[in-house]
Amino acid sequence: MRKKIVAGNWKMNTTPSAGKQLAEEIASQLKDGFNADEVILCPPFTHLYQVGEEIKQNDKIFLGAQNIHTEDFGAYTGEVSAPMLKDLGVDYVIIGHSERRQYFGEDDLLLRAKVEKALEHGLKVIFCVGETEDEYNRNHSEHVVKRQVISALFTLEPEQFADVVIAYEPVWAIGTGRTATPEYAQKMHAFIRQLVVQRYGEETAQNTSILYGGSIKPNNAKDLFSQPDVDGGLVGGASLNANSFVEIVRQI
Ligand code: PGA
Repeated sequence: MRKKIVAGNWKMNTTPSAGKQLAEEIASQLKDGFNADEVILCPPFTHLYQVGEEIKQNDKIFLGAQNIHTEDFGAYTGEVSAPMLKDLGVDYVIIGHSERRQYFGEDDLLLRAKVEKALEHGLKVIFCVGETEDEYNRNHSEHVVKRQVISALFTLEPEQFADVVIAYEPVWAIGTGRTATPEYAQKMHAFIRQLVVQRYGEETAQNTSILYGGSIKPNNAKDLFSQPDVDGGLVGGASLNANSFVEIVRQI
């Protein structure tokens, strides 16, 4: 059966010392256990080491990065690579987040290269897809998400694909407070799972975790997580407060 996962995407927020404290609070509140199979904290690069130290005693809390470069090493000033993160003890990397697509011009082809690089180095991938508001209004959601999933993921071998978690994040719901309805999320998740069935078969599709992201809060998480094809969430704003993040984790 597929894993239930709640991941916190801190984006470019908190300082290293505040991030260490946040991780410490989350780990302490979760130390007596939780129902999700995995909780993943994704702080900025500068916090990874310290956050890793705070969570290492809990074998159900994992460390995630928010980006990687497509090369291992070289003259790419300011970039961070998969082998560096792996060596630091990072387990997951978020790839294809809409903010990377929108503000940094990351396209399907580049994202495919990043996914392959992460998997090559033994990092698991949280791959984000989702339509913009304009695409949603024009009824293009399925078309867009299908293109994003196929172009970046479906060249992978089945054993590589096993290390991919998909996050469906409608761009119009990210940071807006306008959460997708549970019914709409379920419809899109079922659509994505069906794409996986067509490419990798029923068994793989049943084992693929598909997370919802976009304005998840403690008061809407339960309805989203109770949908049959919603296997957890990727939480932005509400992951920056230990109480609200832990409350969301407890809705699974
Ligand atoms: P949000 O962000 O929860 O603040 O909407 C989600 C995300 O971008 O992953």
